[in-house]
Parts: sequence; structure tokens; C-alpha cells
Amino acid sequence: MSKDYLDAAIEIAQEAGKILVEEFSRPMDIRYKGDEVDLVTQADKRSEQFIVARLIKYFPDHAVAAEEGTGKETSSEFRWHVDPLDGTTNFAHGYPCFCVSLALAQRDALLAAVVFNPFYDELFAAARGEGATLNGQKISVSRNATVSTSLLCTGFPVRNRKANPNLQYYGDFTQRSHGVRRDGSAALDLACVAAGRFDGFWEFNLQKWDTAAGVLLVEEAGGKVSDFAGNAYQLGGPVILATNGLIHEEMRSVALEISRRDPAPPCR
Ligand code: IPD
Ligand code: CA
Ligand code: CA
Repeated sequence: MSKDYLDAAIEIAQEAGKILVEEFSRPMDIRYKGDEVDLVTQADKRSEQFIVARLIKYFPDHAVAAEEGTGKETSSEFRWHVDPLDGTTNFAHGYPCFCVSLALAQRDALLAAVVFNPFYDELFAAARGEGATLNGQKISVSRNATVSTSLLCTGFPVRNRKANPNLQYYGDFTQRSHGVRRDGSAALDLACVAAGRFDGFWEFNLQKWDTAAGVLLVEEAGGKVSDFAGNAYQLGGPVILATNGLIHEEMRSVALEISRRDPAPPCR
């Protein structure tokens, strides 16, 4: 059953990806959601319009939660989490690190996930219990066992930037590892953990549509996802830590050390 959902999600993500590539080659029409760092483009809107319409057509009973607000509430226990363009700031600046992110959850259980970067034609997919793939090939998390030999990644929100405590974590983990990348797409960051390109990822205050697909990818690729306290990560929770599993406890203890030294609470 999850496989049927996954097939639909793949088809929809690939079609939405065509819209993003088409918009990427045109002059950008950038608008701001509030202040001048929170961007939205024509591409976000067109992609979401297409994805939501297709999901409603295929699964008329399912609820759809979509970032730009055009989703649909129903009483169904099935809910799609849709980020029609993750990495909007990259997209708007012509940096080709962006994707479509789609995931289906049944109550709290993620069933199917797709993260698609149409520029590089990289399609990450996972169905619960069936593993994770990149362009059809099985992927798994890395085997790096220490933070000191790891390549990590993180991200910074566009909203409430000054209240976000992540600079302390960024500095500390940078000094303790091979480096911390900041690529501007949480969904691709998580997909890269699943594919073993990054050994670990953390970020504060992400939304459900940013992480839903990536979380299933990491879990199905053999990795681990929690919050900094080691509790199960709840979609939309204040902090996510996703790793290859082997460096999870070490990253957690570094994070706890930083939070004790510099106890700025994560704010929304
Ligand atoms: C953003 C990206 C970015 C993360 C931000 C998100 P958007 O999503 O995932 O990596 O650091 O917090 O808001 O706005 O490009 O869909
Ligand atoms: Ca996003
Ligand atoms: Ca988005």
C-alpha cells in the first residue's frame, strides 16, 4: 500500500520538478512574506498549486498540509506534508540546491516520502519498511563513527534569525568535525544524510513540511532521528537531530554541553 502512495508521490514530485526547472530559467518574480528575507516566488506557488490539485484528485479523502497555504483539511487520518519548493532562497539567487518535498503520514507514522532535486535529477524516495533509494538505487547512511571525522550540516531560519541559538552550535561543531555545510534546503540536507553524504544534521524550528519526507528517508536508510534530549522527533518540534546513528550520542552530548554553556532557548 505504501508503495502505491510512493508511486503517486514520485509522479507528482517529478511533474512539479518540471515546473521548478521551467521557472528557474526565467527572470525571477520574487515577493516577500513579511520582511525582506522571507521570499516566495512564482515557482513556489505554481508548484504547490499543481501538487495540491493532483493529490486531491488521486486521494480526495486525504488531508493536505502545504506551505503556501493552499492545502485542504479533512477528517482523514492520512495527511500529506508538502513543501512545493524547499530552498526558495537558493532558487531565487540562481543556486541550484532546491527540491520538491512530499510525505504521507498516517496519524504519526510516516508512510511514504520523496525529495526531488529536478536540476540535478536526483530523486530520493522511501516507503516505510522498504528502505530508501536514490534514482532507484538503495542508499544507506554513512559508517563514520566519530564527530571528528564527520561532515555535518545545519540550517538557519529566515524568520526570527536573531533569536535563533544556532550560531553557537555551528561554531562548536565546525571546530570539532571536518566541517558544517549550510546548503539552504533542510529536505535535501536530510536526504544527503540518508545517502551517506553527510554524517549528521541538526536544525532549530523547522516546519512539518521541511522535515517529514527527510525523516523517513533517514530512518529507512538506517539512520536515527530524535531531538537533542534523545526523545523521538515530533514533526514541527523545536529541534531535529538526524544522523547515521553511530555519531548520534556524541552529537547529542556536544549539543547538551553547548546548551548548558549558552542556554539560549530556541524561539519560534
Ligand atoms: C527553508 C529551508 C532552509 C531552512 C529554513 C527553511 P524554504 O525552507 O529548508 O534550509 O534552513 O529554515 O525555512 O523556505 O526554502 O521552503
Ligand atoms: Ca522548506
Ligand atoms: Ca518552501
